[in-house]
Amino acid sequence: MTEKESVSDIGTADSVSAYSSPAKSVGDPGITPLSPSHSLKDSDQNVPAQQTYVVVVAIDFGTTSSGYAYSFTKEPECIHIMRRWEGGDPGVSNQKTPTTILLTPDGKFHSFGYAARDFYHDLDPSDSKHWLYLEKFKMKLHTTSTLSTETELLAANGKRVKALDIFSYALQFFKEQALKELSDQVGSEFHGSDVRWVITVPAIWKQPAKQFMRQAAYKSGLVTPDNPEQLIIALEPEAASIYCRKLRLHQMIDLSSKTAFNGYSPTETIGTGMTQAKEVVRRNRQSRTFLVENVIGELWSELAEGDRYVVVDCGGGTVDLTVHQIRLPEGHLKELYKASGGPYGSIGVDYEFEKLLCKIFGVDFIDQFKIKRPAAWVDLMIAFESRKRAAAPERTNPLNINLPFSFIDYYKKFRGHSVEHALRKSNVDFVKWSSQGMLRMNPDAMNALFKPTIDHIIQHLSDLFEKPEVSDIKFLFLVGGFSESPLLQQAIQTMLGGRCRIIIPYDVGLTILKGAVLFGLDPSVIKVRRSPLTYGVGVLNRYVEGKHPPEKMLLKDGTRWCTDVFDKFISADQSVALGEMVKRSYTPARPSQLVIVINIYCSEIDDVTFITDPGVKKCGTLRLDLTGTEPSSVPARREIQTRLQFGDTEIKAMALDIATSRCVKAGIDFLNY
Ligand SMILES: Nc1ncnc2c1ncn2[C@@H]1O[C@H](COP(=O)(O)OP(=O)(O)OP(=O)(O)O)[C@@H](O)[C@H]1O
Ligand SMILES: [Mg+2]
Repeated sequence: MTEKESVSDIGTADSVSAYSSPAKSVGDPGITPLSPSHSLKDSDQNVPAQQTYVVVVAIDFGTTSSGYAYSFTKEPECIHIMRRWEGGDPGVSNQKTPTTILLTPDGKFHSFGYAARDFYHDLDPSDSKHWLYLEKFKMKLHTTSTLSTETELLAANGKRVKALDIFSYALQFFKEQALKELSDQVGSEFHGSDVRWVITVPAIWKQPAKQFMRQAAYKSGLVTPDNPEQLIIALEPEAASIYCRKLRLHQMIDLSSKTAFNGYSPTETIGTGMTQAKEVVRRNRQSRTFLVENVIGELWSELAEGDRYVVVDCGGGTVDLTVHQIRLPEGHLKELYKASGGPYGSIGVDYEFEKLLCKIFGVDFIDQFKIKRPAAWVDLMIAFESRKRAAAPERTNPLNINLPFSFIDYYKKFRGHSVEHALRKSNVDFVKWSSQGMLRMNPDAMNALFKPTIDHIIQHLSDLFEKPEVSDIKFLFLVGGFSESPLLQQAIQTMLGGRCRIIIPYDVGLTILKGAVLFGLDPSVIKVRRSPLTYGVGVLNRYVEGKHPPEKMLLKDGTRWCTDVFDKFISADQSVALGEMVKRSYTPARPSQLVIVINIYCSEIDDVTFITDPGVKKCGTLRLDLTGTEPSSVPARREIQTRLQFGDTEIKAMALDIATSRCVKAGIDFLNY
């Protein structure tokens, strides 16, 4: 191992500390901090100076649909939603474009969105099996526990592709579209360097997934690693919250209060309310420019300092919740409980439908059909999507789902009998065959497909509302496309039983996008966040008889040390202000050492003593790169002061060589460690 690479050797990461040199730890390089293990909090220092940009462009990279929106910094009250490029699906109104991507057989980017889907659909089946078509792939970043830059995704034809390539192709596509639209708007070529980019991610995403998105942005050329501040990772429910607090009464539906809101009569049902809401969206969409009031919206005229609300982003992949408290008069926000949620998005309903098809037609057939007739499978899911959106609690008439001819035909070849026969033979009596070649589902069958997903959401919400931090909630904002589901709305309404008012913005699907633009214009609006996990590093402490276990004892040069001691930076659910720093000092073991690499550990629980405790995992590395900062005269103990910031949407590190006052390159890597 070279000097530069000596990562796990204690010599690289230890410190001289107040005590003399510690020795090799049992499980892990131990570090004795040079300074005592206290958090020094200074919220004013080290907040990077704001660079000015001409425009903020936010990209909402969704599981099922994506889009961008922008605002010129000189005209922050106008948010422009991306112009539409192509058509839509029958029976489905989307404000974003589907997150579908098509690569040529040799792996080159071909198209994105409806264009990708239509082109793929029109390919000859013998050709299409060579093309790489992907959809609903964002969830992979949440569900892969060992996410890395090498993680792969499965295309519709069963071939593997690198996830980093797919995400970067998609971001590159959005970059080009946005720059083209901006150039058209201003009448001259618009450069990416004038843009502050914002990418939204679910708040429950772990650090590796956020870093993956950043890496994909670097790869796509959206921004460069030398200017990381040009890209902000925004958290989806936070973005929604920023927008919701600016809502005016005519931009939302109050589900819980049956009083007249925006002229609605008190007798209105949820369904009719949403129909009217859509009409307003459609009218607005003609210009696709939304005006955000600079003053606090009328909703806030009802709010007092310290009022609390919950934002629930119900998307395609995840349901993400955040609890905020408002500080007036500026409307700054404070997070009251760490972001929570889970993979309970609307695609759960699609999976239930797939399971139902497997029950009727057999898993072996469905698996084969997906691989052999991928375009027909996409058609079938599009047909299902429009019927899924028609599901409602009060519905009594059946829902018909068109089976593609290719399904009927392939089934006959595969099994030797008809789909009608399969339906009759199956024990599924709530799905019938209609003579027009359709699956006829009774409404209960459709509602049953929603049940597991909705139950998860309700369970999560009830647990959340039990937490002491989540008391006295005034509003619950329902955002994200899935919030349009009357079944979900009703379930939430029943669960809350009038505990707080449920507010649904009209353009649920665009709330996150608009909020993300506002966040890009002023990222300091969220003043306090909660750490989702406990973070720290392993250090050596002086061994104390009776306090430390004997198996952790280590003797070095006559001194007894306790290894693997967890030096906590921050606790799970601890509140931390924006710009607040945790300060630690480290020193290279040898003057010639160029890199200090320190392992970072995390845990869901707060009570951690050793890095070997159950539930404590190594989750990343802190890397201090001393290249080029060698002092002319090496002091006996070279102090590298490191500051870690936990109050932002990503964990950030900065470091300073105390002797020379020079910045040391510091980075945290949660992806490749
Ligand atoms: N009326 C409806 N009933 C049921 N589901 C609906 C309805 N309207 C939209 N959806 C679902 O909402 C999802 C799209 O919502 P949205 O665009 O917020 O998700 P996303 O941003 O793609 O996902 P995520 O935020 O989880 O990454 C789709 O899965 C769609 O099926
Ligand atoms: Mg979303």
